[in-house]
Amino acid sequence: MKKTLETQKVQFTETVLRDANQSLIATRLPYSKFADILPTMDKAGYYSVECWGGAVFDVCLRFLNEDPWQRLRNMRKAMPNSRLQMLLRGQNLLGYKHYPDEIVRMFVEKSVENGIDVIRIFDALNDLRNIETATKTAIKCGATVSGTLSYTQSPVHTLEAFAKQAKEMENMGVATICVKDMAGVMTPQEAYDLIGAIKSEVKLPVVLHTHCTTGMAFMTYLKAIEAGVDIIDTASSCFSGGTSQPATETLNYALKQLGYETGLDDAVLKEVNDFFKPIRDAYIAEGLLNPKMMATDTDALTYKVPGGMLSNLVSQLKAQNAMDKFEEVLIETPKVREDLGYPPLVTPMSQMVGVQATNNVLSGERYKNISKEVKAYCRGEYGTSPAPINPEVMKKALGDEKPVEGRFADTLEPVFEQTKKELEGTAKNDEDVLSYILFPQVTEKYFANRKAQEEKIVKYTITPVEE
Ligand code: CO
Repeated sequence: MKKTLETQKVQFTETVLRDANQSLIATRLPYSKFADILPTMDKAGYYSVECWGGAVFDVCLRFLNEDPWQRLRNMRKAMPNSRLQMLLRGQNLLGYKHYPDEIVRMFVEKSVENGIDVIRIFDALNDLRNIETATKTAIKCGATVSGTLSYTQSPVHTLEAFAKQAKEMENMGVATICVKDMAGVMTPQEAYDLIGAIKSEVKLPVVLHTHCTTGMAFMTYLKAIEAGVDIIDTASSCFSGGTSQPATETLNYALKQLGYETGLDDAVLKEVNDFFKPIRDAYIAEGLLNPKMMATDTDALTYKVPGGMLSNLVSQLKAQNAMDKFEEVLIETPKVREDLGYPPLVTPMSQMVGVQATNNVLSGERYKNISKEVKAYCRGEYGTSPAPINPEVMKKALGDEKPVEGRFADTLEPVFEQTKKELEGTAKNDEDVLSYILFPQVTEKYFANRKAQEEKIVKYTITPVEE
């Protein structure tokens, strides 16, 4: 299980273009700001560069007026030697609901065709039926699939349960197993035990993903490495820390001194960091990057609620002028999570649990108001809950209605051809149609902006000829 130090290699996934960008500045880094550093990053020696998926797709269309597919093709061209990696939420793809298998297959095929090498695929509930279509398609397309477990703590999320799921993903044909601690709550001891348990169950390389939020990450990685972890996620140091990942250069330096092989080029890492530093400083000066985001916040350890969810609860309560109920809501949150069968607190479950806990406290009666998302969850539209849902809550949510039998995506009809027809004259290719299916309103606005821009360009090029 444990490798000897002489032979242990620890590889790095650089997250500055995706998770670090998403965690610190809400993914607002436009392509034009980092294009020039890509040829340098291509020489760093990373295992992979995480650069697409997650919120990148949505934010490109919604706020940056960028075609996410074009961004991917550009990155592919600029980094021919790197493994380009994306994060994909199984049957949710990059959106917030489940899509029919047809769309999942097409989306994965197009992602690979446009340049993705590694796809990290997870499901918020760890319901493996929700990652199956994406996983099979990606493997068929020749991509490297990282089967991913959403890490959380609960009586049903035992070492045995996680190891068993890792084994099932190995049987599905994934290339690596990733443990995703999206909230940064995994302690060094938990990492040591969990990585060890997975390593003794599967033969595949194991990846660990965490965040610095609670200050635990560097120690957690070191203990995970002692237990044999093969790949870790880090961010170029000026975009590291706090809600982001631990620093690439720091871990590279420390691990090399401990005798591990990292494959990274120190000089290139410095060049990459020197490039991003003024960008980071400008974001701080503009107020888009709050320095607090880069500091340690241990509240998540006390309340067992991820940092991002805590700040959402605060803004919800402030909006309703009910900050005096904060403590009560924090006590109610784990109770709601238990009632709902211990879902990992990751999107969209963190929002559902948070809103329900707030409703339960503010209305003065538990489950008097149940959101339509929680009702859909009880109906089984997000998959099977890790533990059974409290029958009383189930009854309050659904009445006599029966939950979905089988997998929710099987009840969904194909939509691609119909949508393509509707978008005739607007969508330029199948990728455009997929963008629209994932984010209809946002993409419609993007299409309109794009058209206006193109018309402007035509005007400008015609004018000089006329003069
Ligand atoms: Co993350």
